[in-house]
Amino acid sequence: MEKAKTGIMGFDRLVSGGFPTGSTNLIGGAPGTGKTIFALEYIYNGAAKFGEKGLYITIEESIDRLKKQAAQFGWDFDSLEKKGTAKIIHISTESIKENVAENIVSIIKKGGYVRVVVDSISALAINTPNSFGSLTDINEFFIKRFMYIFIRRLAKSGATSLLVSQTTDSSLSSDGVSEFICDGVINIKYESLGGNYSRYLAIRKMREVNHDEDIHPIEIKAGIAVHKLS
Ligand SMILES: Nc1ncnc2c1ncn2[C@@H]1O[C@H](COP(=O)(O)OP(=O)(O)O)[C@@H](O)[C@H]1O
Ligand SMILES: [Mg+2]
Repeated sequence: MEKAKTGIMGFDRLVSGGFPTGSTNLIGGAPGTGKTIFALEYIYNGAAKFGEKGLYITIEESIDRLKKQAAQFGWDFDSLEKKGTAKIIHISTESIKENVAENIVSIIKKGGYVRVVVDSISALAINTPNSFGSLTDINEFFIKRFMYIFIRRLAKSGATSLLVSQTTDSSLSSDGVSEFICDGVINIKYESLGGNYSRYLAIRKMREVNHDEDIHPIEIKAGIAVHKLS
């Protein structure tokens, strides 16, 4: 099976070498757990180390802020953009329509991107378009259906994707449905117990992969570092 290595310290060994090529993966966790940094590193390493062209779609943060966050770890996205190996694009919440997935897939195909990040799909879910007019209120069912269709369509692009979801409790995604559709599910928990570590990562699911099932402390230093359970 072909793998998209993340190059994230200590991570690839948990998933037999990387994300299966073409798979759709969810990374969920509370705010500040390192999801965006993880996703930036996935795209950066793909372009800088593994020759895989990457697209980072941000809905939550501005392109400028993301580039500044990345620069803190020495990841120069401006230089990757100049070389044409990675790109960060922003989708405004106002522009989210029913066809958002088709638009993204067409950008992926035109640009020849093989890695894609959407940060975050929670921002997509919150802005589920109301295509039924004012007669219907957007309810949980519409949001779930919108997310279901979005992920299924994105999966057809063939790119290896990483979708970020903001969670507030013990759930794996904010919409309650993406964890069922995605091939892989990673969860990060924030739990400061006064020890050396306060963030913990676990692979909850990865189709067709004999993955690790432990909870691992993670550290944000030169990017993300996943440690062995001790
Ligand atoms: N340069 C850095 N060194 C160490 N930790 C950092 C650095 N920059 C940010 N952080 C930590 O990472 C957190 C933000 O990570 P981020 O990936 O944006 O979180 P999420 O996307 O899960 O909300 C910050 O709250 C801070 O704790
Ligand atoms: Mg974030």
